[in-house]
Amino acid sequence: PVACPEPAGPSGLSEVPLRRTCPFDPPPGLAELRAAEPITRRVMPLDGTELWLVTSHDLVRRMLADPRWSSSLDGGLSPEQPLHVTQPEPGMFISMDAPEHGRYRRMLTAHFTVQRMNRLRPRIEQIVAERLDAMERLPRPVDLVAEFALPVPSLVICELLGMPYEDRAEFQAAARVIVDMTASPEQIDAAVAGLAAHLAKLIAAKREEPDDALIGELIREGALTDGELVQISMLLLVAGHETTANMLGLGTLLLLHHPDQLALVREGAPGAADELLRYLSIVDLVMFRGAKEDLTLGGQEIKAGEFGLASLAAANRDPALCEDPDRLDVTRPKTAHVALGFGPHQCLGQNLARLELEIALQALLRRFPGLRAAVPLEEVPVRENAAIHGVHSLPVIW
Ligand code: HEM
Repeated sequence: PVACPEPAGPSGLSEVPLRRTCPFDPPPGLAELRAAEPITRRVMPLDGTELWLVTSHDLVRRMLADPRWSSSLDGGLSPEQPLHVTQPEPGMFISMDAPEHGRYRRMLTAHFTVQRMNRLRPRIEQIVAERLDAMERLPRPVDLVAEFALPVPSLVICELLGMPYEDRAEFQAAARVIVDMTASPEQIDAAVAGLAAHLAKLIAAKREEPDDALIGELIREGALTDGELVQISMLLLVAGHETTANMLGLGTLLLLHHPDQLALVREGAPGAADELLRYLSIVDLVMFRGAKEDLTLGGQEIKAGEFGLASLAAANRDPALCEDPDRLDVTRPKTAHVALGFGPHQCLGQNLARLELEIALQALLRRFPGLRAAVPLEEVPVRENAAIHGVHSLPVIW
């Protein structure tokens, strides 16, 4: 088939293809770009920013590992807030560069090792089992997102941080706004400010009486101010539950369309979480960086101050990464996929994410062997305007 050219932006440059036509696949056009021009000048349709779109696995990794590309950026998701260089709040380390980024990252890494996350395993199993019990009691169809995909990671991150789960309404609503590409800057600022005020109260209470959960431990280690703790908690809350919730919702839908793969996941295929992460690349086309100095990437001369955008989805479907990349195969040998990022900012919560996905998907498919979608794929409401791909709801029966 002939790929339709993407519409041109005001400057005459073609737009970054943003819209997925199938919720599981990268937007059409990216595969052709990756083959023809793996780094290419494009315009962001949402805010009009001109940038370098990077689509091959090799170049995406080189870009994300290169300290000359800065993460101190904000915006890019609406005309009111175009992509710009930012001075992050102390503690918001996802938007920082070396050396400040490394200081925070080193303080947190020890709290997110495989061993530390495995200590949470029994609690995660219990949380999952309780949600499945609750689902079983509900009249069918049941919305898998509201009853399972969202509550499980929310409960887990509350447990890890030591936050009362009763506060979830607050942070779930705020997180929705923060990753919504259609929210105005005022709406985002209000959501961030509300969540920060809430966390500040919680942290003040914990200073009085630190518990054994993560925020309590960080307070006891004594190296962080309350302001830094607020930002770190906010980052972990938002990054830790929106992503996993969308992986569980969209991942289940994908498996329901691949019964052979679903059976393998139910039996406990060990690499399933990573293959689902690779295949779906739910974080995509929001991985912005800014060149701090003149540099060359993939033969292109990039000037200081220019922006770059790494397409994780295009990189994860690169034939150079693995055989038959557009096929879902949960038994595939481990790949070097970039669904969790790459380089210094590679996902801090990746061990937790893998553990949650493995436990939750297996338990769900074992509890309901006859699980199926209650509506056809075309009728499942897909999140169109979110920085993280997923489904709004997924009615299921069994
Ligand atoms: C960073 C994806 C789950 C916490 C990242 C990045 C990606 C990513 C692509 C890199 C961002 C960048 O380079 O700018 C995902 C996906 C997840 C997931 C797909 C789920 C399934 C989690 C969980 C947590 C978490 C469960 C926390 C408990 C973080 C943090 C960072 C991060 C704190 C920033 C790291 C840094 O800047 O050094 N994640 N993530 N993520 N993630 Fe995740």
